[in-house]
Amino acid sequence: MQKIRILGNNSLQLKGKIKISGAKNAVLPSIAASLLTEEKIRLKNIPLVKDVFTTLTLMKELGAEYNIKKKLLSIQVKTIRSYEASYELVRAMRASILVLGPLLARYGKAVVSLPGGCAIGSRPIDLHIHGLEKLGASITLEHGYIKAEAKNLQGTEIKFEKKTVGGTENLIMAASLTKGETILKNCSLEPEVSSLCELLAKMGAKIEGIGEETLCIKGVKELGGATHEIIPDRIEAGTYLIAGALTRGNIVLTHTQPKQLSTIIEKLKFSGAKIENINSHSLRIIGSQEIKPQDITTSPYPGFPTDMQAQFTVLMTQAEGTSIITETIFDRRFSHVNELLRLGANIEVSGDKSIVKGKTLLSGAETIATDLRASASLVLAGLIANGETIINDIEHLNRGYEKIEEKLESLGAHIERFRE
Ligand code: EPZ
Repeated sequence: MQKIRILGNNSLQLKGKIKISGAKNAVLPSIAASLLTEEKIRLKNIPLVKDVFTTLTLMKELGAEYNIKKKLLSIQVKTIRSYEASYELVRAMRASILVLGPLLARYGKAVVSLPGGCAIGSRPIDLHIHGLEKLGASITLEHGYIKAEAKNLQGTEIKFEKKTVGGTENLIMAASLTKGETILKNCSLEPEVSSLCELLAKMGAKIEGIGEETLCIKGVKELGGATHEIIPDRIEAGTYLIAGALTRGNIVLTHTQPKQLSTIIEKLKFSGAKIENINSHSLRIIGSQEIKPQDITTSPYPGFPTDMQAQFTVLMTQAEGTSIITETIFDRRFSHVNELLRLGANIEVSGDKSIVKGKTLLSGAETIATDLRASASLVLAGLIANGETIINDIEHLNRGYEKIEEKLESLGAHIERFRE
């Protein structure tokens, strides 16, 4: 099993410059979109992370041909070989559900395993299914699989009962090839959704209202190839901003988009950090000696991202006072807390809140990662914990952080990956 060892200390100061990679949560739907055309899709700046390779394994099973040169992915689905996303692949990565909409729209058929729960909650897909049924798909759930058929989908109005990133993406892709006009209401506003719309528009899709809660999509007969640049990963950037604040360091992030980080930056400034935009693609964080407690409540974009909740919790263990962290998106996203307690944090979970009492001196311990962002929070905690921290099962970390050890080492951290 792969593990990470960190030799941390609470006077560590990270300094230097790192380049932010392409966004995992933007590249996954963009790869799925290649199912919508028989022509080639080229995606630049892809992150070489596990979830991308898992998605490409699934796409190959469906019939895609692809190659990756440096960070350019060329992918094409000339003919479909299968309509099925198997349990082992969907279990490995819930985002496999993003092939459902495109398969239905292009081929009228899809068999996708139900994703099941995961470490951050139940994560149903009822909103995906309801939306596709409103377009005219007939969907049954049999033996743990979603069996979907669509003789002829017809545009209509669909209002999401609650904001769902994947549900919005699935329906946008399906509607792009659905005859008539589809109005999608209460769409997610995450930049990754807008980036998918921009790719689809390059492919010939007719989408109005990109970046707004209501999208109007006029279906076209077919979509063509396109080249698209994957946007920077705002959660990776936020994670390194926290590392800078946590270690009272001085870090420059390049190849990022500060405008997508506004709520994270606002909360970090309130907690005492200094953050300056150097230009539209880079910024600097200078951590403050005293870290002030902050209450946060996660909410859909442009609110404070749920994917930053665990990382921010680590920062609040070093704040002088009590912080209340409220998680509103997922029903169980506090699995990092038990591991942080082993490092000496003082956190109590009650319902949808975790109450963090700081400042606590953390000391290194053996820990285990349970999901992608919980793993990131353990790495952050290990940086400032006195002594050695071991993080077991870092497969989760590999899913969404490209070269995290190299990037942190370049800033002065003592971190290594090893196998036992
Ligand atoms: C996307 O997941 C991201 N993943 C998640 O990032 C992110 O945390 C989440 O959006 C934030 O909303 C990718 O983009 C690949 P949702 P997704 O549908 O689409 C409920 C990471 O760490 N819901 O927006 O799966 C759901 O249970 C990952 O990078 C339904 O009830 O999330 C959750 O409570 C973790 N029915 C809420 O909505 C549905 O049909 C938001 O889920 C769909 C969702």
